[in-house]
Amino acid sequence: MNNTPRRIKQIIEPQYVIEGAGVLLRRAFGPKRTNLFDPFLLFDHFAFNDPVEGPIRGFPTHPHRGIETVTYMLEGNVRHRDSLGNTGIIGPGDVQWMTSGRGILHEEMPRRGPSGAIYGFQLWVNLPAAQKMSEPRYQEVNADSIPVVEVEGAQVRVVAGEFGGVPGPVTEIAAQPLYMDVTLKPEAEFSLPVPEGHFTIAYVFEGEGLFGLDQAGQGEFIQAVHMLVFEDGDHLRVQAGAGSKVRFMLMAGAPFRESIAPYGPFVMNTVEEIQQALYELRNGTFVENPAIS
Ligand code: CO
Repeated sequence: MNNTPRRIKQIIEPQYVIEGAGVLLRRAFGPKRTNLFDPFLLFDHFAFNDPVEGPIRGFPTHPHRGIETVTYMLEGNVRHRDSLGNTGIIGPGDVQWMTSGRGILHEEMPRRGPSGAIYGFQLWVNLPAAQKMSEPRYQEVNADSIPVVEVEGAQVRVVAGEFGGVPGPVTEIAAQPLYMDVTLKPEAEFSLPVPEGHFTIAYVFEGEGLFGLDQAGQGEFIQAVHMLVFEDGDHLRVQAGAGSKVRFMLMAGAPFRESIAPYGPFVMNTVEEIQQALYELRNGTFVENPAIS
């Protein structure tokens, strides 16, 4: 394929689910054996904007193995602590790219910002079999270390991958991901090369526009909030609506094409590996030091 724009393959309506200690969030997709979003496993959208919603419960101590969790906040923050002794706050515009590898235990507690709102995303990226039991690794990126590329009405925050020759700060990830926060002014056009064969999705969370434009400039009109899955191709084109900006998270990655066994916060390749993780959790050997300080 050469000069093949990526058309829309599927439009997903995010569903409300309850996770952690009773946290209501919108899930575009979650881990399934069918692995249709390979190399991605889950995409959750935290949006607590209703002041009458009551106190926000978070995600008390829980394990992860075999995956990467990517937390990106826009408003409010998430306080986190883990079994490796890491502790910190993921604030507006910050990213935490956590590679769980063989295992961590952590706690993630969202807090409201000054506006009273909490707004952010969590993406789960798979690890290939060869890296599922690797050492855990964190890449914590402050908002001001994320480059913002501006071209012709497009503003692109580059977390991973590159846009306009500018690379994002998150590197050495098995899935070779693109992860960007894209805002287009009304009518602005955006075109991005995405390697052929890499699975590509966009989470449209503000405004409206035409997505998946073809060579003739024909695209599908999409309004927030929707997850879009794209066909294969070598680039992606988007145009903001005439009277509206549009903002979306753009994600792409190389599929691993391995069978997966998801179970709660673990995603391994076989059921036996899940049983092993559960056994280690029970007998206290899942991580070296299970205490979270
Ligand atoms: Co977690």
